[in-house]
Amino acid sequence: MFGKGVGRCYNIAELRKRAARKMPAPMFHYIDGGADDEWTLRRNSAAFDDVEFLPKVLVDVSKIKTNTTLFGQPIDWPFFLSPTALSRLFHYQGETAVARAAHAAGTIYSLSSFSSMSIEDVGKLTPGPKAFQVYVLKDRGLSREFVQRAKEAGFCALQLTVDVPGVSGNRERDIVTGMTVPPKLSLMSLIDIAMHPGWVYRHLTTPKIDMANVAHNPPPGSDSLGGIIEYLNAQLDRSVTWDDAEWMINEWGGPFAIKGVVRPEDARRCVEIGASAIMLSNHGGRQLGFAPAPFDSLKAIKDEVGDELEVIVDGGVRRGSHILKALALGANACSAGRPYLYGLGAGGEAGVDKALQILRSEMERDMALMGAASIDALDATMVRRVASG
Ligand code: FNR
Ligand code: LAC
Repeated sequence: MFGKGVGRCYNIAELRKRAARKMPAPMFHYIDGGADDEWTLRRNSAAFDDVEFLPKVLVDVSKIKTNTTLFGQPIDWPFFLSPTALSRLFHYQGETAVARAAHAAGTIYSLSSFSSMSIEDVGKLTPGPKAFQVYVLKDRGLSREFVQRAKEAGFCALQLTVDVPGVSGNRERDIVTGMTVPPKLSLMSLIDIAMHPGWVYRHLTTPKIDMANVAHNPPPGSDSLGGIIEYLNAQLDRSVTWDDAEWMINEWGGPFAIKGVVRPEDARRCVEIGASAIMLSNHGGRQLGFAPAPFDSLKAIKDEVGDELEVIVDGGVRRGSHILKALALGANACSAGRPYLYGLGAGGEAGVDKALQILRSEMERDMALMGAASIDALDATMVRRVASG
């Protein structure tokens, strides 16, 4: 059952509060923060507030069916876990906790290129479907190696992230805490870490946290807390173009998502180069300030590509109702990072279980209240823009 602590969290906002208490501040703010003034971070969730439901009445909702398929995999509900770096920094159970919880919740886990557990080890963790997130690196040999390793480890899909063109966003909370390049934890951060003896104990008694997928060829800075950003700035190739994406799609030869698409004509280009999915995303508001919310981009993208691609809304999802609004406007699924990371920080695997259980039960409850007994029953007539004023 759920741990006592996370068991008391009745929504994602409560899990976030608990994570803020349980985690050292630099780690919490690395998760929680966004770029510049955090307008995009806020807008990603606020966009959902602009739409209301038009429920159907007198519909038999005695059975609610949420199952669907994505990346060629049957999943229990149209939500999956977005890739996030270095999970062991947030809780010693790290990727193990998150992958196991995703499997238990009947959905897909996405592993980041910059994970703190290797592709091979995560591949063996569960029999459930897993996607691998890639970047095109300066070292193309390493990119090719990643694709090959993901194939051999049985991953079902690749997600190519395209909103980090060798430049990371301006994350000012990390400047304050010292999660910078090079890492320079402030005195306040060090005191704060010392005030979390549980985290410190686990940090000292479990294997060193590093970028497990490149551990055989350790990049400079990968052995330090802020090293990931240093690596990202140094190793991500600023000259990556559509040709590279097409090359990777062919190299992989299976379900392939491009993550970070905003513009309809870019979505069209994804179809042309052979992608099977797009993740409408701005990296959770961590990259370009004033990038539009994924939910706000959905309609125009659907108008352009229709059903030619699977369309995923990635970012800002904090409620089951958010997932339903995206589905009603044509998304195949939603994905999220922070909600499960709050769960992880708040209580390890039990916390991630709790985060997923919250989102799923909210979604199912609202489907019953809306008179939608299955995913197919959700359509654009069931939502409308909130009248202004
Ligand atoms: C991320 N994200 C991310 N994306 C990616 O492609 N590779 C990565 O390594 C990471 N790392 C990462 C770390 C942390 C701490 C966060 C919060 C996010 C972005 C992630 O996949 C996803 O796009 C956003 O998290 C979606 O926004 P929400 O759900 O957090 O609002
Ligand atoms: C981040 C990088 C690692 O968002 O993708 O922190």
